[in-house]
Amino acid sequence: MISKKMQDAVNDQINAELYSSYLYLSMAAYFEEKNLRGMATWMTIQALEEKGHAMKFYNYIVERGGRVKLQAIAEPPFEWNSCLDVFKAALDHERYVTRRINDLTELAMEEKDHASQIFLQWFVTEQVEEEANAEEIINKLEFLSESKHGVYMLDKELGARVYPAEEE
Ligand code: FEO
Repeated sequence: MISKKMQDAVNDQINAELYSSYLYLSMAAYFEEKNLRGMATWMTIQALEEKGHAMKFYNYIVERGGRVKLQAIAEPPFEWNSCLDVFKAALDHERYVTRRINDLTELAMEEKDHASQIFLQWFVTEQVEEEANAEEIINKLEFLSESKHGVYMLDKELGARVYPAEEE
């Protein structure tokens, strides 16, 4: 059975992951309005992945005999200054999530909760990938200096992303 302290922390993480989903969906909507359909697709898939992360935490609490408590999701930002600005905000957000996952892992260690430590390893690895993905796009946008042609090409490239479930 999961401890109350760990359960509360994981419940907070469900909220953080659902907020991440909301944030990326808001970013997708920004790109839709700019007719950057590829970037919108990339962000929509990112939003779906975050929902998937929330469900992993949800199922974990259920499996450990705990009780899921959903909380209000904060309103995400609506406007950004540029494509680069959006991806920089996404990277900042992922760095914040990484700190949260590290804090959860430390709590699991303090609580001598080995099951949670092993469960959280997946997220530790995932965060490395999440930060790297955003960094790669930022590097490309900085290299292109947001030239119209370059952004068009990058938009096409990002539009090729598929949600993992669709690959089956
Ligand atoms: Fe669920 Fe992007 O971290």
